[in-house]
Amino acid sequence: MQGRHTRFPAILAVASMVLFLTQGAVTVAQDAGDAAPLDEAIVPFALPESGPFNPEDIPIENQQAIADWFRSAHADAAAEAFRHWDADEAISPACATCHSGEGFRDWHGLDGSEAGIVEGPIDTGGVVDCGTCHNAGLAEVETVTFPSGLEHPVTGVEAACMTCHQGRTAGVDVEEAIAGMEVDSPSPELRFINPHYATAAATWLGGYGGAGYHYDGADYSGRFFHARPVSTCNSCHEPHTLEVAFEPCLTCHQEDSPEAIRIARQSYDGSGDTRAGISSDIRANAALLLQLIEDYAALVAGRPIVYDGTRYPYFFVDANGDDRADEGPDGLVAYDGWTPRLLRAAYNWKLVTSDPGNYAHNPPYVLELLHDSISDLAGPVGTEVGSLGILR
Ligand code: HEC
Ligand code: HEC
Ligand code: HEC
Ligand code: HEC
Ligand code: HEC
Repeated sequence: MQGRHTRFPAILAVASMVLFLTQGAVTVAQDAGDAAPLDEAIVPFALPESGPFNPEDIPIENQQAIADWFRSAHADAAAEAFRHWDADEAISPACATCHSGEGFRDWHGLDGSEAGIVEGPIDTGGVVDCGTCHNAGLAEVETVTFPSGLEHPVTGVEAACMTCHQGRTAGVDVEEAIAGMEVDSPSPELRFINPHYATAAATWLGGYGGAGYHYDGADYSGRFFHARPVSTCNSCHEPHTLEVAFEPCLTCHQEDSPEAIRIARQSYDGSGDTRAGISSDIRANAALLLQLIEDYAALVAGRPIVYDGTRYPYFFVDANGDDRADEGPDGLVAYDGWTPRLLRAAYNWKLVTSDPGNYAHNPPYVLELLHDSISDLAGPVGTEVGSLGILR
């Protein structure tokens, strides 16, 4: 395993491996290390522990995995998710767990360090490398703690996906921020709470995971168990390309794309259309919620809002009504009219829309969050919820 502060040359190593492989100059030889039986089956850790990398040392059975991974988002060393810390020259401990394989190993103590903490800044330049998932130590990780405090039991590589795709906040963070405040009064103490990105595991665990803001008195669907063969991340996502293979879905569904899949017999978005995929109900209700967020900000909070998905913190003041963030002396004006009611709805909206696979990860839960947030805002802006035709 790489030392904590040595730069992990995944990209270089893999680039040269791919080169060697395409030249066909490879013979089979693999040091499978001291992996547990579970990992032996998956041929752990393709990269030799240190260079120089001799073609003879590179096992041919890894060729497809390397090529697939190399083209995936996990290996995209140029992505913002891996370059964000370049200027700092180190990834801060709070971020490193999910933004580098080295940080991930440090967090789980797979590098021999204490588990549950990243001890120091981690070198930039890492990606989600082979040793993130192909790691004998992962078999000993029995629970993954979610931002809500939930300790969810995991087995094997699932521990990896659940660690990094859980988001960074929970509904309780919103609850704490707004506790004791007047529900419709703007408070200068409130800031937008961002659930973070690619929050698939949080969606998947639903109400049990506690990622969303849960309205008083409402019940929320738990984990989306789906159907037996498709009940883990890797039963749908090929773990190297990360793509969802659609063919296996056709055993049970007849539609022609994941987005078109529908089981529900009722229309959730008031359109009456029960033929379009469930993704279209989710998209429509999310659009309706964003509209209500804008109406409420202007009418009730008295401070018009606009959403700009390309710029942190995403919600800005739009006092001049041109649908763009207002510019102030210090740059764009982050939204400052948050009321408790507005913040909890905007938080749920962002959580749902931060997961592009929400319709497959947990459609009941995201529909409930959208429905309850819509209902909460509708009254104050003078809209009769019943007239919207939405269902929970
Ligand atoms: C629990 C895991 C986790 C932690 C902790 C975490 N992130 Fe992330 N972050 C992710 C994932 C997963 C993505 C990938 C989203 C995507 O692009 O698909 C991401 C994406 C990003 C992006 C790219 C967003 C974009 O628009 O492409 C930035 C910037 C970022 N994170 C910053 C941070 C910072 C700063 C910290 C520490 C303060 C941090 N992250 C901590 C999981 C995490
Ligand atoms: C995000 C996690 C993850 C990363 C990163 C990853 N793998 Fe895998 N890999 C898996 C999982 C999960 C399986 C088991 C697939 C199965 O059982 O169907 C697997 C299987 C394999 C296999 C067995 C053959 C196959 O494709 O099913 C090989 C070989 C392999 N990985 C090599 C690699 C190499 C080399 C890298 C780095 C270039 C890598 N993996 C990166 C998760 C990962
Ligand atoms: C060490 C943290 C980490 C682990 C472990 C991890 N991911 Fe990721 N994942 C990320 C980051 C960061 C990104 C965004 C990378 C980027 O923007 O290029 C991402 C992106 C993705 C994407 C989006 C692909 C795309 O085309 O945008 C999928 C799907 C995904 N991961 C699934 C998984 C699955 C399934 C597992 C478990 C087998 C897993 N991830 C394990 C951090 C991780
Ligand atoms: C029932 C199948 C299924 C399961 C189970 C599943 N996903 Fe997905 N996932 C999808 C579909 C469908 C999409 C949307 C299409 C796409 O992006 O490829 C998606 C999208 C994603 C994305 C966003 C990709 C992007 O384009 O930005 C991430 C990240 C992700 N899934 C991770 C996970 C993780 C982590 C798990 C396990 C907690 C998981 N998925 C479980 C089907 C599934
Ligand atoms: C073994 C059968 C089976 C397979 C294979 C399967 N599904 Fe499903 N799917 C179901 C069942 C059953 C439900 C309803 C589950 C529920 O509501 O609890 C469902 C529900 C869904 C829903 C929600 C539909 C709605 O109206 O709420 C989506 C989206 C979905 N599946 C996507 C996928 C994708 C994408 C794949 C392939 C990666 C897939 N499914 C593979 C059986 C299957």
